[in-house]
Amino acid sequence: MGLDHAAAKPHERMSAALAEDLAGVNALIRDRMASEHAPRIPEVTAHLVEAGGKRVRPMLTLACARLCGYTGTDHVKLAATVEFIHTATLLHDDVVDESEKRRGRPTANLLWDNKSSVLVGDYLFARAFQLMVEPGSLRVLSILSNAAATIAEGEVLQLSAAMNIDTTEATYLQVIRGKTAALFEAACEVGGVISDSDEAIVRALAAYGDGLGVAFQMADDLLDWGGVDAASTGTLDKNIGDDFRERKLTLPVIRAIAAADAEQRAFWARTIAKGDQHDGDLDEALRLLTLHGTLAQTRDEAHAHVARAKAALADLPDDPIRDMLGDLADYVVARLN
Ligand code: IPE
Ligand code: IPE
Ligand code: MG
Ligand code: MG
Repeated sequence: MGLDHAAAKPHERMSAALAEDLAGVNALIRDRMASEHAPRIPEVTAHLVEAGGKRVRPMLTLACARLCGYTGTDHVKLAATVEFIHTATLLHDDVVDESEKRRGRPTANLLWDNKSSVLVGDYLFARAFQLMVEPGSLRVLSILSNAAATIAEGEVLQLSAAMNIDTTEATYLQVIRGKTAALFEAACEVGGVISDSDEAIVRALAAYGDGLGVAFQMADDLLDWGGVDAASTGTLDKNIGDDFRERKLTLPVIRAIAAADAEQRAFWARTIAKGDQHDGDLDEALRLLTLHGTLAQTRDEAHAHVARAKAALADLPDDPIRDMLGDLADYVVARLN
């Protein structure tokens, strides 16, 4: 299909460059997502895994290991570990968010139930821990288990920050560093650690992953509002505004509340703190974000984190994979322009 074609998206080009390793990751995922004793497990995991997903995080592990000259096979196990942790968090996240769609398919909580999603998510976490032990590196184990704890912390912090219109930018950053960037960071870092790279290289990989992860979640939060120009393009996509309906405080809203006059603050207090939302409120919210320029500001913040990620790449070996990591970082925010 010519995935290495120049027009292919960066994650597709990366996937073509790492095709053999990635096939190993997918085979390992299929093998380890099975269960001999509980048929519900492969039903649920197959539903989610076969829907695809971009495999961005496992690709980061593979790419970082290759960039560091790794020649062994443990990077495939670590990449599969990272994707298992990600998949487990998605199962749990869709229960928490009461989501109905994931990877273009109905969610597991919709097709089965919350109980199945929670328990199969637990199973995938446990399988991730079995896998991360196998390379026999305590340092790798420490990085990945810390990331798993940090993701859960981020999700819980987000839960307690929701509906609170006094949520600060610092709390928002802590949430997205936890729920999203921590796994990007760990995925990159273990690629360097498994290759026995110098500390400076490992630190650079971790910094790249952190910048990429923060930018990735900011972009996701901006796209929840339809992007920077949603208000002027008129018709709102029906998926727009999920975070508003869930009363989540993301960066565009936090900044608009900080800039609000008394009347605008009363609007946010009613819709987000009280949860009293009516027809037209989403349009009004979008109008306020546009008025205060906070959608564009969020895009600019995401760009700044991409720039930070790319600056970290300067300390890494000059290699086509390094260029792909740079393009991937650009791509995360390019879709916002
Ligand atoms: C979704 O991540 C969860 C967020 C951090 C926003 P991805 O967009 O990487 O999900 P998949 O794996 O490709 O479905
Ligand atoms: C996804 O977060 C789950 C994690 C990052 C743990 P969100 O709830 O913000 O993203 P989507 O929109 O469901 O993918
Ligand atoms: Mg969600
Ligand atoms: Mg969520």
